[in-house]
This record gives sequence, C-alpha cells and structure tokens, in this order.
Amino acid sequence: MPTDSLNTARQRIQAAYSPEVFQSLGESLISRLGVHLGELQQRGQSVLNWNLPEENLSVARECLQRSKTSDDLLNRFQDLIETAIERGHNLHHPRYIGHQVPASVPLAGLFDALGSITNQVMAIYEMGPWATSVEKALIERWGEVIGLAPGTFAGLVTHGGSLANLTALLTARNISLKNSWTQGVQNANLPVLVANADSHYCVTRSAGILGLGTEQVIKVRLDHRRRMDATALDETLTQLRKRNTPIVAVSASACATLIGAFDPLQEIADVCERHGVWMHVDAAHGGAVSMSKKHAHLIDGITRADSFICDAHKTLFVPALCAFVFYRDKQHRFETFQQDAPYLFDPSAPGMADVDGGMMTIECTKRAATYGLWGVWSMLGQQIFEDLIDVTFATTQLLYQKLRAEKDFEPLHEPECNIQVFRYLPDEKYGLDSKAICELNRQIRRTLMESGEFYLVQTNLDGIGTLRTTVMNPLTNEEDLDQLFSSIRRTAEEILSQ
Ligand SMILES: Cc1ncc(COP(=O)(O)O)c(C=O)c1O
Repeated sequence: MPTDSLNTARQRIQAAYSPEVFQSLGESLISRLGVHLGELQQRGQSVLNWNLPEENLSVARECLQRSKTSDDLLNRFQDLIETAIERGHNLHHPRYIGHQVPASVPLAGLFDALGSITNQVMAIYEMGPWATSVEKALIERWGEVIGLAPGTFAGLVTHGGSLANLTALLTARNISLKNSWTQGVQNANLPVLVANADSHYCVTRSAGILGLGTEQVIKVRLDHRRRMDATALDETLTQLRKRNTPIVAVSASACATLIGAFDPLQEIADVCERHGVWMHVDAAHGGAVSMSKKHAHLIDGITRADSFICDAHKTLFVPALCAFVFYRDKQHRFETFQQDAPYLFDPSAPGMADVDGGMMTIECTKRAATYGLWGVWSMLGQQIFEDLIDVTFATTQLLYQKLRAEKDFEPLHEPECNIQVFRYLPDEKYGLDSKAICELNRQIRRTLMESGEFYLVQTNLDGIGTLRTTVMNPLTNEEDLDQLFSSIRRTAEEILSQ
C-alpha cells in the first residue's frame, strides 16, 4: 500500500477513535434518550412504530450507502439516532404489554454501555477479570436469594433462556447418558426428555440439538391449571423405567410461557427423586419471583432441582441478554463440556478453571452480560426487584378483575404472575360463531399493534384464538388498562361495521 494511502487510512482511524468526538456524540445520545424516555412515560408516542419490513430494510440500506459521503459526524450521528428511534419499538411505553421482554431499568443500559464501549469480554478470567467477578458475585448472590446453600452450588451466565436451557439439558444428557459427549447418543433404547406439555419451544429444540430428536420429547399431561400433573409424571416415569428407556431429564416450567402457570415443583421433585431422574426447571420467566416475599412461594421446591435457569432480561428488568443457569451440586459444572484448548485455557494454572467461564459456556467470547444487572443491584439494592415483581403482578391481577367485571371480555385463567390471556366477546347481535370470534380477536390485535396505540400479542389456547398480555412495564397503570378496554371495543366496532 502506498504511504500516502496508509496515512490517509490512519487519519480516518484516528477520527473514528477520537475521544473528543466520542464524548460529544455520547452526550448528545444520552440527552436525546432522556427526552425520548420522558415522552414515552407521558404516552406521547406510538408504542410500536409499525412499518412494513421492506420499508425499514430500504431505509437501513440507504443509511449504509450514505455513510461514505458523511462529513459532519454529529449531524450524521443524530440523524441515525433519530431514524432508530422513529423506527424502533417502544418497550418503555406503558402501553407496551406484549411479549416477555421488559421496559428495562434505563440505568442498566448505561452499565451495559460501559461493558460494550470498553469491550469487556469473557472466556477466560484474564480477558475480563471484572466482568467475570461481577458475574460470579451475582451467581452467588441470586443463588442464595433463591435458597441454594452457600458454597454448594455453581452457575453461569449465557446469552438467553434458550441457550441456558440447552446448556443445562446438555449437562443432564452427559450425566444421564454416559459417554454421550464423546461418542454421541448411541443407546439401543432411544432416550427421552420428559417435559411440561406447555414448555417453551426451546426445550424441544434442545432435544433436537442434543441428538435425542424432537419426537423423543414426552409431554406430560397438564392439570386444570395447566401445571404439569405430578401424578401423570409419576405414571410416565414408571412406564419408561419398566421399558428400560433412558431418561435424560424431566423439564418442569416455572412458569410456562402460554398462560404463566407454575408447575408444582415440590411434588415434581418428589417424583424425580423416587425415580432417580435429573430434574430441570425452566424458570426463565418466573425465577425472579425469588426476589418477592409475596410471590416466592410460586417456585417453592426449585432448590431441589439438579439444574434450573432464570432470565434476568425478563423479570429482573435488565436489557437482553442475561440468562443464568444454576446447578444445585457444583460438581456438575464441568460435566457440560470436556475439551482442551491449550491456546486459551492455561494448564499451568488449573485453579483458574472456575473463573475461566468458557469452560462452562457454549460461547467462547462472551459479552459482559451482567453489567446491567450488577449496576442496578449495586445502586438500588435488591428491593427494586421485589418492587418490580410486586407492582407488575398486582397490575395483572387488576386487569384480571376488570376482565371479570365486563361481560364483553373473558379472562381465560386467573393470572399467577404478570401474564394474562383473554378475549373480546362481541355483542350477540353480530351473530359471530366461535371461529369468527377468534378471527375478530386476531384482527383487533393486529389493528392495535399497527396503529401504535397498544402492543399486545396473540396466542392459541386449546384451539381458541386469544389476546395475550404480559405486564412488563411497571409504569403501566389503571388508566392504561381502562384505555385498553376502550380501544379494543372501538376497534372491534370498526372492524364489525366494515
Ligand atoms: C419459559 C421460557 N423459557 C425460555 C424462553 C426463551 O428465552 P430467550 O428468549 O431468552 O431465549 C422463554 C421466552 O419467552 C420462556 O418464556
């Protein structure tokens, strides 16, 4: 490369790394986001800025093309930020009551930014000494809050609940099926994974990835509250043992995604113990109830599970992704992967295995995923998590009471947490059959979503098309709920009068 070109390249790089430019852009970003969050709290904007995918994609493409000609960095930066805000999803709007992704505590994002701007990563301790320490301290602390005995358990943090379940179930597979890590799944009797019938799809997906096969997942019957029926589980395990079918694990849910039902973990633990089967609990959504004196009973028995997972990026209200895997017995922490990597793990320092996180995670390089949680916990204390759980669960209970009180609404269950499934029932004068009512509910939800007035989701409950909300914003209040009812009624009228 000619020297001139190299010098020009160096100048461009210098500009990209300029601390002064960084500071000025950073200040402008924070002040813009402060205004944006304020407007959302006043309900001053749309929830979802709905655009068709091709429109958004074309704007995103255009941004990339324009970058070559951009000189004025601050203006260009502000333009890009505006575009991202204008086209993004406003989870911090109190009328976002959709999927199980929170209006995260904004402060957590600042700590996450600290981790990403300074690019703190893990795999081995020496690459991220502070990130590793923060993560270890949080595993200890949250594990103890949940009720595990200090010094006896182990854990890790990974990129999301799906990966967390996969990691824990891989550990279970390696322990239940000896040599499967080195030789694959070879048993003549095909092994099975036994799961809650409403399990999140990632549990079945794990069975596919782990070489068991998705058809080798046995779904246990649910009781009248959609919880795994412990008697049915007992019968299933008895049959499997009789047939000498290897059982990788029982995967319970706390709670299951669909309606937020919490499995009876004490009863399931009794059954698993009796049959000598690995008990796993997917507490991605519900593990955070451990923070609440009022709601912790929902996961009573979780400390008897061999493994369980909890997502801080759901109900501890920190930004994605930050998922915890816990092993009751710390001996199991190195059963997931058995590999040498002399270029990474230092055999002359075997004592580092516990802090070289890559020994326990699927990821090699891993972002400092717990900075946000650590920042919020360190600044506001554990109390904030109890408050967030108690308030969002209470708002959902209020929604349920209101649904019960209105004859044109039907709650399809009593909420155990912050998830509520319900539907709108139009006046009989319209003469809609049950299929048409399902279709109407789907149309209501799509209209509301696209209008930006509310964001809620849909689901299918035993063949009934319904609306589904999760109160993931602690600032959603009674007025928002009342407005939800009015908006649904008005939208239904508009659809039916077409
Ligand atoms: C019960 C349950 N488990 C696992 C997951 C998957 O978590 P993630 O989206 O972080 O991969 C979800 C997501 O909603 C869930 O509800």
